[in-house]
Amino acid sequence: MSAFIVLGAQWGDEGKGKMTDYLAEDADVVVRFQGGNNAGHTVEVGDKQYKLHLIPSGILYRDKLNVIGNGVVVDPKALFDEIDYLKNAGVDVTPENLIISDRAHLIMPYHKILDGIKEKARGKNDIGTTGKGIGPCYTDKMERSGIRVCDLMHKDVFEEKLRENIEVKSSIITKVFNGESLSFEEMYNEYLGYAERMKPFVRDISVEVYDKIKSGKNVLFEGAQGTLLDIDYGTYPYVTSSNTIAGGVSNGVGIGPTMITSAVGIAKAYTTRVGKGPFPTELLEETGEWLREKGHEYGVTTGRARRCGWLDLVILKSAARISGLTSFAVTKIDTLAGMEKIKVCTGYRFDGKIIDYVPASLEDLAKCEPIYEEFDGWDESIADARSYEELPENAKKYLNKIENFTDTKVSIVSVGPRRDQTIKVKDI
Ligand code: GDP
Ligand code: IMO
Ligand code: MG
Repeated sequence: MSAFIVLGAQWGDEGKGKMTDYLAEDADVVVRFQGGNNAGHTVEVGDKQYKLHLIPSGILYRDKLNVIGNGVVVDPKALFDEIDYLKNAGVDVTPENLIISDRAHLIMPYHKILDGIKEKARGKNDIGTTGKGIGPCYTDKMERSGIRVCDLMHKDVFEEKLRENIEVKSSIITKVFNGESLSFEEMYNEYLGYAERMKPFVRDISVEVYDKIKSGKNVLFEGAQGTLLDIDYGTYPYVTSSNTIAGGVSNGVGIGPTMITSAVGIAKAYTTRVGKGPFPTELLEETGEWLREKGHEYGVTTGRARRCGWLDLVILKSAARISGLTSFAVTKIDTLAGMEKIKVCTGYRFDGKIIDYVPASLEDLAKCEPIYEEFDGWDESIADARSYEELPENAKKYLNKIENFTDTKVSIVSVGPRRDQTIKVKDI
């Protein structure tokens, strides 16, 4: 039995989809515990590429159970679009291989409207959200006016909650933001259609996942976003609205922390970020451009160019601490081939001191000056390496630095987007 977490150690897009797919081979169950379709997880198997947003990345295997946890916010339209997309790609999604928590909150059309108009109202201080309604949906959850999947299963309950919400949201949208009023009928009928289609998938997933772990099955918890986008430990307010760190698994699935056996942090060999917010090691000149082009750093969900920078070990060390990471999987190290010198950040100079953690205040973080250590690069492509021994000596030195600085082993090295382009170095 094992219950292990795969989560992002940076600002998202570290390769969680690829690593989940790789590690899912040994899992029976793959569970999403937070976030929603703001995520964009790419999985490549052979010559086929799949882009997943809401459905766990274990769906490409025929024999795995995939679970959407209570901590996830579910946009039913996005869910069924993704199920249809997978069907067209030859992957059948049925209640046999996907179940959805009855406690998950629903993203409603007004959440998407509010996401857009609130961003616009923030002006130059916008967060750069994905526009999927994530923040407004989690706001309603915490404010206790949200509509859950179980409510949608009861027509009268759903009707009452929708009427209350439409009244309040309509007045905010029209009176505060000068937007258009909402129509109850249209939304009600649209969601009743989703209710019918969703019903067979709905379960108490805490019971299901608990039973699987108890009966000796292997369960993988697939994180979305990354540690620095966490609502508590990220670069607030330039974060997402959920707990992306390991602690998010317990409340997002209804599984006690003592049942979790390990946590793998996915770390890109350099750093990227989409959307706004501080980024100490960002490269605003041609090296950043080089990384973006070589690493195809464009968002899966929004198509936006990702900001690129050097690897920041302060961030990885913080991620290891906050999530109790038992190892790192380092991805995209193949992208670095051809660089003469590679820098890594090993501390921040702040207020006359050197610190190795990420300060809470953005004003303090803005004052942090990265301290770099320089490594010699390597020329040879490593996309075809299939063992640790085949890696260039300089790449090994780079990986050793990550291990030593973070006091966390590197268990996996990823040298390309495909499932087979993966080197298992140590047990996870
Ligand atoms: P996620 O959100 O963490 O799942 O990551 P994304 O899918 O948004 O972005 C990662 C991108 O890098 C995807 O296009 C992957 O196919 C690709 N990728 C993952 N691992 C590697 C790797 O080791 N090397 C290269 N070159 N690409 C990779
Ligand atoms: P995956 O799972 C990278 C970012 C957005 C924005 C901030 C808030 O593919 O790694 P939101 O729509 O969540 O309210 O946006 O978070 N963001 C991501 N960045 N990868 C993601 O997911 C992200 N999901 C949200 O760009 O800065
Ligand atoms: Mg992504």
